[in-house]
This record gives sequence, C-alpha cells and structure tokens, in this order.
Amino acid sequence: MNTDLITYYKDRAKEYEKIYLKPERQDDLLSSTTILQELFANKSVIEIACGTGYWTEKISKSANSIFATDINKTVIEIAEQKDFSNAQVTFGLADIFNFKPDNKYDSLFGGFIWSHIQLQDLDKFLNTVNKFVLPGGTIVFIDNNFVEGSNHSITNIDEQGNSFQTRKLDNGTTHLVLKNFPTENFLRKKLSNIATDIQFINLTYFWILSYRPLEEYNG
Ligand SMILES: C[S@@+](CC[C@H](N)C(=O)[O-])C[C@H]1O[C@@H](n2cnc3c(N)ncnc32)[C@H](O)[C@@H]1O
Repeated sequence: MNTDLITYYKDRAKEYEKIYLKPERQDDLLSSTTILQELFANKSVIEIACGTGYWTEKISKSANSIFATDINKTVIEIAEQKDFSNAQVTFGLADIFNFKPDNKYDSLFGGFIWSHIQLQDLDKFLNTVNKFVLPGGTIVFIDNNFVEGSNHSITNIDEQGNSFQTRKLDNGTTHLVLKNFPTENFLRKKLSNIATDIQFINLTYFWILSYRPLEEYNG
C-alpha cells in the first residue's frame, strides 16, 4: 500500500474537487466561504497547501492579494486555470517545511492541511507558518470534523496517535493517508503558549480556527 502523502495528492489532482460535491456538506461549504471571505477581506494572504485552488478562488473575492503555494505541480496547474479577476493571485511551488517566503503577509491560510501533519511535527509546523505573517497577522485553518458516513473510516492508528484512512484513487492505486481529527480542546492547548485571539468556529463537517501568533513567535 502507498503511504506517501505527496504522491497521493499529486495523483489525485484531477479528481480532487469531487470532495466538494458531497451533498451533505453544501451548507457548511457556503458558511465556510462567507466566514473565510470575511476573515481575509482586503488582506495580503499567503496560502499553504492550496491544492487545486478551490479556496483560493473563494478567498480571492475579498482578499487584496494571495500568494498560493503547494508542493505538487499537478494541483497548481489546475488552480492556475481558475478565474481570479478580483484579487492579485500568484502561485508558487513550495514545501511548507523547506520554504522561506521573500515577504511577510497580513494572513496565512491553510485548507485541510492541519489534519495531514503528523502530531509529532505540529510544533515545528506552527513555528514555521507563524513566521510567514507580519506582527499582529492572522493565521486561519479549516479542516474536517469526523462525521460517520461522510468521512472515510479510520483504519490505522500509529504509536504517536496519528490516524490513517485507506483511500482509493481512480487510477486503481490504494493509499494509507494520514488524517488526524483534532478536538477544539487539543487545538486550543497546542496554541495556548504561542498565540492570542484564538477563535474556533465549529460547523458540522468542518472547523475553522483563527489566531494571531504572539510576536516572539513570528519574528
Ligand atoms: C487535502 S489537500 C488540500 C488542498 C486545498 N487546500 C483545499 O482545501 O482544497 C492537501 C494539499 O497539501 C499539499 N501538501 C502536502 N504536503 C505538503 C507540503 N509539505 N508542503 C506543501 N504542500 C503540501 C498536497 O499537495 C495537497 O494539495
């Protein structure tokens, strides 16, 4: 079985947005769009793990500019074909963990990437992304709640407590995909020493987290 997350998303690029057609998630997608458009209104945004640009396009309706990045070229090629007439949108190929942007931004957005970070890498992940925003800047993540029947079942849990789902792609390959489902309590605890203004919005299928890194953690 394939276990490499990056290859999984490289090969999933063309079928990725089927996830956004799930009928039961439509109300939450609309609410999330409104919330995110408000959070990013008139901001310069760096987006990590932008994938096929589903959220880039939504956020571009209110943001001032977006620098959208992902580790996979296959997904960026799809994202680039979207219409971004409202904001200045540029794309870059970047691995979150090995990347130093030239500029700092008002806000950072990460859609459905928190769940794919190993628990043992979360502190490093947060320390890295906190540095991408200006002092006083905002960091926003959206990710999945586990809802029985709507999400793939969890098929493995490793010694660190990371959970994994077994997923199939249209090309016939099977993948063991890291997918963690943190609770609000876990998220608040993770951020308690490094952030202020922590806001957690809980929808049915998704949660949205926003916070400001404390200045000593984003300098
Ligand atoms: C679940 S998809 C989310 C895509 C998009 N943000 C969305 O919400 O529709 C996760 C994305 O993370 C990207 N990714 C995984 N590891 C990464 C890394 N180390 N650096 C940058 N992007 C990464 C994958 O290529 C994939 O496009």
